Amino acid sequence: MAEETLSRDGSHDQAPVVVFDHVSITFDLKPVLDDISFTVAPGETRIILGPAGGGKSVLMKLTNGLLRPDSGSIHVFGEEISSMRERDIFRLRARIGMVFQESALFDSLSVENNVAYRLHEERVPEEEAHARVVEALKFVELEKAIQKFPPELSGGMRRRVSIARAIISRPDLILYDSPTGGLDPITSTTIIELVMKQRDVSHTTSLLITHRLQDAFTLAMHRFNPQTGAMEPLPNGGVDESTKFLVLNEGKVVFDGTTRELVRSTDPWLREYLS
Ligand SMILES: Nc1ncnc2c1ncn2[C@@H]1O[C@H](COP(=O)(O)OP(=O)(O)OP(=O)(O)O)[C@@H](O)[C@H]1O
Ligand SMILES: [Mg+2]
Repeated sequence: MAEETLSRDGSHDQAPVVVFDHVSITFDLKPVLDDISFTVAPGETRIILGPAGGGKSVLMKLTNGLLRPDSGSIHVFGEEISSMRERDIFRLRARIGMVFQESALFDSLSVENNVAYRLHEERVPEEEAHARVVEALKFVELEKAIQKFPPELSGGMRRRVSIARAIISRPDLILYDSPTGGLDPITSTTIIELVMKQRDVSHTTSLLITHRLQDAFTLAMHRFNPQTGAMEPLPNGGVDESTKFLVLNEGKVVFDGTTRELVRSTDPWLREYLS
């Protein structure tokens, strides 16, 4: 328990939350990730960029133990998950919130039951579960939709429900796989604002895949203001120090570093990709 309290608060426990060490995985003879190494520090938001098919979703599935690497090691919360038994992975996954590439909600369950899904699995008493669902839906500004069903919601609203479901168990790590994929630019910005709120209010360590450079730079150059309930540019063209980048191409890490390093990079492929 003590260990969890420390890591949730984020300030005392400086051990990395995620460590990939020389990780490779091959599908159908094709190396999808090829000798990948990187670490994610507590409280860090790691934005993962790269062309389609570059292995971004595979990297996320490795992080929560849905896939196992062919070689290399993956530590999450200090535990080596690539060789863990299913039962232990399950325990570890309870500390991870996941927003899937498609919202992946159950159409036949109400918003309330979708968001409460994990709490029901954990047999949290109904009254407490309801209170926590309301709290999570308030966070994503969707408390009015609690009785609705996913097919009645817009794409942006479904993404919000999916975020509420991911944060309901107060995770120590959130994995967002393309949370703005398929959304229009304005709706995307509202979703990015929620990711930023989670980053700046709860300081939850996160991995975020996005196809939209705009999302990435909005996150890097804004902060959430709890007084106004909205995001605002960081003063003097500053960047958020907890936000870092990982760029993948054809299974290799082509960039691992800060926003400033990314925009200053002279690598020709990266310059082309970012332009
Ligand atoms: N379970 C699997 N079995 C076989 N091949 C797979 C599997 N999962 C992923 N792949 C392959 O691995 C490659 C990388 O897939 P991945 O889903 O990680 O790409 P991505 O970077 O997330 O792409 P996108 O930006 O389109 O979401 C693809 O060629 C994909 O077909
Ligand atoms: Mg993907």
